[in-house]
Parts: sequence; structure tokens; C-alpha cells
Amino acid sequence: MNERFSISPDGIKYPLPIENDYKQEFVRIEKLVVEAKQKGQEIVVVMGVGFVGAVMAAIVADTVDENEKSSKFVIGMQRPSTRSYWKILKLNEGISPVKAEDPEVAPMIRRCVLEKKTLTATFTYDALQFADVVIVDVQLDYAKKDLGNVRTGHVEMTALEESFDIIAQRIKPDCLVLIETTVAPGTTEQIALPAMRKVFRQRGIKTDPLLAHSYERVMPGRDYVASIRDFWRVCSGVNEEAKQRVVKFLNEVINTKKYPLTVLDRPIESETAKIVENSYRATILAFMDEWCKFAETNGVDIIKVINAIKMRPTHNNMIFPGPGIGGYCLPKDGGLGIWAYKHILGFVDDIFKITPLAIDINDTRALHAAQLVRDALRNMGKPIASAEVLVLGASYREDVGDTRYSGSEVLVRRLAEMGAEIRVHDPYVDVWWEFINQDEYPDNNRSRFFRNQKKLEGLEVLKDLDRALTDIDVLVFAVRHAPYLSLNPDYVIQLAGKPIAVVDCFGILSDEMIREYLKLGCDVKGLGRGHIRRLKEEIKRL
Ligand SMILES: NC(=O)c1ccc[n+]([C@@H]2O[C@H](COP(=O)([O-])OP(=O)(O)OC[C@H]3O[C@@H](n4cnc5c(N)ncnc54)[C@H](O)[C@@H]3O)[C@@H](O)[C@H]2O)c1
Repeated sequence: MNERFSISPDGIKYPLPIENDYKQEFVRIEKLVVEAKQKGQEIVVVMGVGFVGAVMAAIVADTVDENEKSSKFVIGMQRPSTRSYWKILKLNEGISPVKAEDPEVAPMIRRCVLEKKTLTATFTYDALQFADVVIVDVQLDYAKKDLGNVRTGHVEMTALEESFDIIAQRIKPDCLVLIETTVAPGTTEQIALPAMRKVFRQRGIKTDPLLAHSYERVMPGRDYVASIRDFWRVCSGVNEEAKQRVVKFLNEVINTKKYPLTVLDRPIESETAKIVENSYRATILAFMDEWCKFAETNGVDIIKVINAIKMRPTHNNMIFPGPGIGGYCLPKDGGLGIWAYKHILGFVDDIFKITPLAIDINDTRALHAAQLVRDALRNMGKPIASAEVLVLGASYREDVGDTRYSGSEVLVRRLAEMGAEIRVHDPYVDVWWEFINQDEYPDNNRSRFFRNQKKLEGLEVLKDLDRALTDIDVLVFAVRHAPYLSLNPDYVIQLAGKPIAVVDCFGILSDEMIREYLKLGCDVKGLGRGHIRRLKEEIKRL
């Protein structure tokens, strides 16, 4: 029964399309394409309207030529899965399928769909036949077999390979196919090119597909749009023509005047650049984990230490990692590189040391945060079992509604395993898919690494902060969302109705706030915040 519907985060149930709907939908798209062509617009199909594709599609649809006329007509093409079909219908109403703090996202999508009429979304793959350019923004997952061991995982290539086949079956021979998906290095030249060429030959096309790669550096959040449009890009193509076409296209849609393009010789270089870029960031984050633990046992506040070091310009990209490193990219991208070395490029030696270690450290950091919760409760003479724990923040970083691989998920699962009763609040997350569908994606779901997870099925994300705070035993600050930064300790304790355990996983609490909680009889702990013990002693002496 469930299979036939796709439910949007605001609870609307959309029946999935049936066979007849495809014919009608194709007629609708064809009509729009004819009109766009009459206006001289280029047809761009964006495959996958998720966090990247939805906003990329809007940016392309918003493009104007030197006469300020819309120069592209964009078709966001989304497979009609139960999880994602609703995105098509929302987009076609002019509503963004992604939620973010950036005030540019919603009006841009609305403008392009309803006013400029340069953006539509569809579920029919047949729209591909109209494309002058196809942008591939589908996901490419890395399934981990064990928690904290990236090496035993694998890249789930089947869906991406199928996408290459679907595209090659339908596109015009001179269509530019721009892969933006983060892929395992070697994918464009060694997987996509031969597979698509084979289909071209079967279709009697003698030329090679014009394949290019240019990765996204999007940061969903306050600068969502700018992180795509007003940001530096790296690109490459499988041959000279593909390279020239991708350079021309990106020059038209991205602000390359201010943020110049870097054109690399081969796609494997562009693919590798993405993987190294993210492995570097995963590594500098993981590096802080051991120093956080050092700080906790030696009276050091790591937040102040980091801020002191960041004054030095050469070290100003040092970052505090929070209760885990989530998002779709950092937990997996290094894995794509390690996997590609063996399974695409054919090497048997083990050259990777730092990249897998960094990912493994990041993936298990939340387990330590859960220990702090247990210890804070123990200091107050209470067991973790049956404690009412409120976790503030479900997403992987501040000001976004993206929960993918968030540290909060592992924290919640571990606390539930230890018997805690869990409540979660997040202003940006409507549905926490990882819990709603925890049995649906057996390979990627992290519930299988823990026991006692059944009770988390359907975990509701609370929106009313006051209600969430009422009668709790533990408050965990897990994400730096704006509403949490200024939460008043007096107010919190009033709602909780008693002194509670407070655990700061993201350097959110100022010393003043920590003192207030301590004065109110709470026990406070924090990742990397070893100075709290000193503050406690200070207060005892008062
Ligand atoms: N989210 C980020 O912050 C970010 C940043 C940089 C790069 N990336 C990369 O961009 C790519 C896309 O990521 P995302 O966050 O947008 O993922 P996403 O899961 O939000 O979106 C992907 C969309 O593609 C759709 N899809 C999958 N297969 C399809 C098919 N065959 N046809 C049509 N639609 C299909 C899915 O239903 C989904 O809606 C990934 O490779 C990711 O690593 C993401």
C-alpha cells in the first residue's frame, strides 16, 4: 500500500504515476520544449532534483543572455520513487523541495517556475531526447558494512550505471552530458564512456558521447545559491569537444568572471580533485578528535585553543568537529577513492592510511558524545536507562535540514541502545527519514550497528521547543542551529522542572552559560571542554 504513494515532508500523500500518466506527461513536456525552442532557449535536463540538482536547476533556469533574455529552459528530471516523487510536484508548484536558510533559494525557484517559466520538473526519462545539455546530479552511495571501518564498504554503482544507460539510450548525439555527481575516480572515462559508447553504436551513432565532469562544491545553508553560482569550479571533458562545450556552458551559467574556472586535462583529474578536497577536510576534522579527548582529561577548553590558533592566518581553517561529521559527502568521498583504486583502476596494494582513518574516527565520534551523556547523568546519581534525553538538532550542520549521516543519528542510536528515552528537536528538519524508513535501506541504515532500535521507528522531530524541554533529564546540544545558541539556562531548567545533565557537543555554551547551569544544580559536560571541571570547583568555592 505504502509503495504507491510518495509523502512530502508537509504530510501530503501523492499517488505515484501509473503507465497512462507517462504519455500525458510526455505531451506536456514536448509542448513546453517547442515553446522554449521558439524563444531560442537551450534545453537543459537536470537528472536528480535533490539537494544539488534542485538548486543547480534553478540557477541554470535563471540564466539570461547579454540582452537579459532567459537563455535556458530547464527540465528537472526526478525518478518517481516513494521517497522522492513529491519533489517533482512541489517544484512544479514553484515550491523548493529543499529547505535552507538561504533566502535566495525559495524565490529563485518560484520565479523560474511561475514567472519566467524556465523551469519544470518531470518523471519521464523521455524528456532526455530534447536535451542540449544533461546535468547528472543523482546520488552515488557508499555502503559501509561496519561502523568505523570504511575499508569494508563498497560503492553502489548499479544505479549510476543504469543512469548512464538511460541517458545514452535517449540523448541526441551532440548532447553534452555533464556529470556533477561525486564519482569514484576513473568513472567518467572507464565506466560511463565505454558504456555509453556501446549504446551509441547500437543506435548507429558513430561519434562518442560528449562527456564532461565538473563537481559541485555546494554548501546547503545560508550561502546555498552562492556556493554553486558564485564559486570556483573545476571541470574537464573526455575529449577536446566535450571540454570546450563544458567550458562554454559553465561560463554561461556560473559567475566565472569573478570565480574563474580551472580546466583540467582529464576527467580523472577533476574527479580526483573532488575526492582529495573532501578527504582533506575530513582529515582536518578527524585530527581534532584526539585533541578533544586530551582537552577533556586535562582541564583544557579546546574551543578557546582552536580560536587562539586560528588567529594565525596559516591555520585559520582549523574546525571543531561537533558530534560527528555528516552530510552526504565527507563520510563517503574518501571511500570512493579507496574503492576506485582497487576496483576501477585495478591496484592491489594498500596505499591509503590517513584517509580511511579520518573517516573511521569521524564516523564513531558520536559514540564518545554518548559516553559524556552517561557520565553527566552518573555524576547526578542517575542511570542512563529510562532517562528522558532531548537532543537539539538532527541535521549534520547548522541552519540546514539535511540529516544525511548526521552525528546526531549515531548519538541517538547509541543512547537508545543504552536504554534512554529519546526526544529530538530541529527547526529545519520535518521528517527524519533515517528513522522513519530504518528498515527500508538495509545496506545504508545505521540501525543495524546497534541493538534496541525498534523503539526509534517513526521518531518524531519536535518543532515546539518549549514542549520538547518539558520534564527532561538530559539536554544535548548537538547542532549549532541559531535558536539554540541563546537558550537561557533559567528558562530551560524551569521547563525541565529540575536540575538536569547538560552536554555540549558543539562548543555552543559560553563559560557564563555553563556557570549558570552549574549554579542551578546541573551537571555539564562537553566534547573537548575539559575546563568545565575547573568552573565547577570555582562555583563550589563560592
Ligand atoms: N548535498 C551536498 O551538500 C553535496 C555537495 C557537493 C556535492 N554533492 C554531490 O552531488 C551529488 C548529488 O547529491 P545530492 O545531495 O543532491 O543527493 P540527493 O539524494 O539529495 O539527490 C539526488 C536525487 O537524484 C534522484 N535520482 C536518483 N537516481 C535517479 C535517476 N536515475 N533518474 C532521476 N533521478 C534520480 C534521487 O531520487 C534524488 O532526488 C552526489 O554525488 C553528492 O556527493 C552533494
